[in-house]
Amino acid sequence: MDEILFLHEGGVLTITFNRSGKKNALTSAMYARLATQLAAADADSAVRVVVIQGQEALFTAGNDVTEFLQRPPADTDAPVFQFLRALADFSKPLIAAVCGPAVGIGTTLLLHCDLVYCGDNALFSLPFVNLGLCPEAASSLLLPQRIGVAAAAEKLLFGEAFAADEAEALGLVNRVLPPAEVNAFAQAQARKLAGKPAASLRATKAMLRAPQRPAVHAAIANEAAEFERLLRGPAAKEAFSAFLAKRKPDFSSC
Ligand code: COA
Repeated sequence: MDEILFLHEGGVLTITFNRSGKKNALTSAMYARLATQLAAADADSAVRVVVIQGQEALFTAGNDVTEFLQRPPADTDAPVFQFLRALADFSKPLIAAVCGPAVGIGTTLLLHCDLVYCGDNALFSLPFVNLGLCPEAASSLLLPQRIGVAAAAEKLLFGEAFAADEAEALGLVNRVLPPAEVNAFAQAQARKLAGKPAASLRATKAMLRAPQRPAVHAAIANEAAEFERLLRGPAAKEAFSAFLAKRKPDFSSC
């Protein structure tokens, strides 16, 4: 079965994470497809808006942990970084519909979306420190800008999950809805945008995002260098082995 579904209808490209057996964890093959499809959607004038979604109880558990252990990204050309750059450079409105867990990149990718609608069951988390890692996806830049330095420090240093109402209060999401209504609401908003003048949407988005773009790309690259180093370190290995073995990690020697 396709682990990501792409549906283009009425000017809206809907991308659905579809790997529920592994909680929609994202693999390098999935990032590669996402990067390719986003670039194609950007170039295709028939696509006017993109929606990224999961299911009613699940957005994504973040990067695939087994791949992190066995095949960590080799360099900044790895599919995950291609995906992040495609996301950061995407010139048309991007809407996220989030229900259930949005772990790691599941939360940081939202910082690149223009509108985020979530279910009251959404659970956001940035567990990088708890995994022996550091922020990615330019979140070390975008998160403090969005929610303030104090809140960003709390979320990034403790890595504790936080719920939809807190995300809304922090300004991370536009609206909280009953989970059964989230994807339909995101579609309705996307269709509304798809009916507006495309050039004006792109110009408005560019004015909101473009001034930041060089700093975002620099942050993605700087974070990637440290992330890749930490990924090969003892704390990350212990954290991922513990997760897969369903035990608590022991960082006493890390
Ligand atoms: N990578 C690979 N496999 C994952 C995964 C991930 N990120 N997240 C979940 N899975 C797998 C589990 O290993 C399990 O596989 P199994 O059935 O073969 O044992 C299956 O998906 C179900 O996961 P489980 O943890 O049992 O589900 P849950 O409902 O109790 O918890 C989450 C769901 C999302 C809260 C939990 O899986 C989680 O925290 N995952 C995040 C892992 C992580 O650290 N991600 C990296 C972020 S950088």
